Amino acid sequence: MIKTFSSRAGRLSPKNKKFLSTESECLLSAGEKPITQNPIALDIGFGDAQSFSEDVAANENVTFIGIEPYKKGFARAVEFFEETKPANLYLFNGDAREFIELMDFSVNFIRIHFPDPWPKKRHTKRRLISKQFLKTLSKILCPDGLVQIVTDSKIYQMHIDEVLEYQQLFETTNSFPISYQVSTFHKKGLNKGHTIKEYNLKLITPCNQTSG
Ligand SMILES: C[S@@+](CC[C@H](N)C(=O)[O-])C[C@H]1O[C@@H](n2cnc3c(N)ncnc32)[C@H](O)[C@@H]1O
Repeated sequence: MIKTFSSRAGRLSPKNKKFLSTESECLLSAGEKPITQNPIALDIGFGDAQSFSEDVAANENVTFIGIEPYKKGFARAVEFFEETKPANLYLFNGDAREFIELMDFSVNFIRIHFPDPWPKKRHTKRRLISKQFLKTLSKILCPDGLVQIVTDSKIYQMHIDEVLEYQQLFETTNSFPISYQVSTFHKKGLNKGHTIKEYNLKLITPCNQTSG
C-alpha cells in the first residue's frame, strides 16, 4: 500500500507519551464498530486534533470515528477524550484504508479535510483521493451517505476535479450537515490567500447496486 502520509512523528512530549499509552475506552481496533444509535461520521486525517475536538463537541448528535496515523495529533485527541469524556468520540491510530478494509458496517458521513496534497508530480500516487478510493468509500457509505473533502491546494483541486469527472458513483451536492471550525491547515491556506474548495458528494447509486 503506497503511503499517503509523511513519516513526521513530531517531538512527543511526556504528556503525549502518557496519552499514547493510555488504554482509553475511545480506542477502536481496525474495523471495530462503535456502540451508538447516532449517525456515524468517519474523519480521515484529523491532524493536530484541535479543530476536530471542537467539531466533536459542537456536533453531539453525531458519533465520530477519528482516524489519524500522526502520533502527536493522535495523542492530543486521546487527551481531549480523557479530559472531557465525550460520548460521541472513537479513535483509531493508523491508516484509514486499513480500518476501512476490515469494516463490516456502514457510516453516514465521511470527512477528509485538507488531505496531504503531494503537489510534486512524482508523488501523485501518494494522494489519498483517487477513483479507487472513492469506490472504497462508496462501499462503506449508507445509501443516503455523504462525503466531504476540503482542500486549499489548487493542484489537489484539479486532481479531485479530474477524479470526479471520470467516475459515476458520486455527484456533488450543496450541503453537509456537520459544522466545522477552521483547522490548522485551513488557517495556513487562508494566510497564503488560497481559495478553499469544499466538495460535498452524495452517492448516485449505492455501490452494492452497481458493477462499477
Ligand atoms: C494536511 S493534514 C490535515 C489535518 C487536518 N485535517 C486539518 O485540516 O488541519 C493531513 C492529515 O491526513 C493524515 N493522513 C494522510 N493519509 C492518511 C490515511 N491514509 N489515513 C488517515 N490519515 C491520513 C496525515 O497524517 C495528516 O495528519
